Amino acid sequence: MDERIISTDEQFADDWQYSLRPRRLYEYIGQDKVKKNLSVFVKAALNRREALDHVLLYGPPGLGKTTLAAIIANELGVNFRQTSGPAIERAGDLASILTNLNERDVLFIDEIHRLSRQIEEILYSAMEDFALDIIIGKGPKARSIRLDISPFTLIGATTKAGALSPPLRDRFGVISRLEYYSTEALVEIITRAAQILKIPIEPVGAKEIARRSRGTPRIANRLLKRVRDFAQVEGSKVITDDIADRALSALEVDRAGLDHTDRRLLEAMIKKFNGRPVGLDTLAAAISETRETIEDIYEPYLLQLGFIMRTPRGRVVTEAGYNHMGIAYPKLNDNPLPTLFDFEND
Ligand SMILES: Nc1ncnc2c1ncn2[C@@H]1O[C@H](COP(=O)(O)OP(=O)(O)OP(=O)(O)O)[C@@H](O)[C@H]1O
Ligand SMILES: [Mg+2]
Repeated sequence: MDERIISTDEQFADDWQYSLRPRRLYEYIGQDKVKKNLSVFVKAALNRREALDHVLLYGPPGLGKTTLAAIIANELGVNFRQTSGPAIERAGDLASILTNLNERDVLFIDEIHRLSRQIEEILYSAMEDFALDIIIGKGPKARSIRLDISPFTLIGATTKAGALSPPLRDRFGVISRLEYYSTEALVEIITRAAQILKIPIEPVGAKEIARRSRGTPRIANRLLKRVRDFAQVEGSKVITDDIADRALSALEVDRAGLDHTDRRLLEAMIKKFNGRPVGLDTLAAAISETRETIEDIYEPYLLQLGFIMRTPRGRVVTEAGYNHMGIAYPKLNDNPLPTLFDFEND
């Protein structure tokens, strides 16, 4: 698969984004509800001189989970230790991380839904009792010892809250869902990034990029960078809406932020299946993508835009989706219900 410009995956060229990462809560734009709650919990924990309760952050990729986790550690004034579900392979890996934490430190586990069962079970007692149960030796001589660890805050991040086992989920005191960003919030993010990168941009230019960023800061920052390249080659000193529009059209990112693949998906649903509900597997076969890719990558944003809908019988394209594709929405009376007249003639 080509690397899509609107991909939410972290890409090599995104390294420069680290300088754009907000470090304090007041610099973190949008997500007002989550921010407000977290700032209360952080203050309370600081007052009590206790570790903050464990926090679970979930939501689509690129919305700022890692950034927010690091901010929480900054606001608490503690160390930030970062790892991920797949990186913790053996019980010993987790034990060594946990025993090396200082009092009230933040341990961030990205993709926490990918922890193995065995590791998860060690986490239970670590989260609940700040203790580790370790088995020493093998066979009949094996015995279990309990090690105390410093009180700490676990921050877990996942794109799939549903994939988390209930006992693990229940051990988080704070569960926050990150939402797609509004265009206004993205305008602020783009304007801030442009300032840091010293790229002159007009407010209408920022708005044009924001509208096409799929509600996602990571994409907004990436598109800004590509538009800057475009402006530079053209010899323009400032990014206008016109330059943004032409640059993004050249990159095949349309006015709603859809790229070639999204459009192919909508088109298949409309033309190949005549707008009838389509099952995920059928759709996957029709556009040669995997079921997971459609479910995790394409669908969430199309659902968010209201271009497709999930029904018990499958996915359908909505009227807004037809309009966006410039195809006439089929009339409801293609398959008319019986009228009163029909009954009277029975
Ligand atoms: N609220 C925000 N304000 C300003 N910039 C933001 C905000 N949230 C995210 N960003 C920018 O977006 C980039 C991506 O954010 P981040 O890496 O935290 O996303 P993520 O949710 O952890 O993604 P993933 O699920 O892929 O791990 C950051 O480098 C940062 O520059
Ligand atoms: Mg992340």
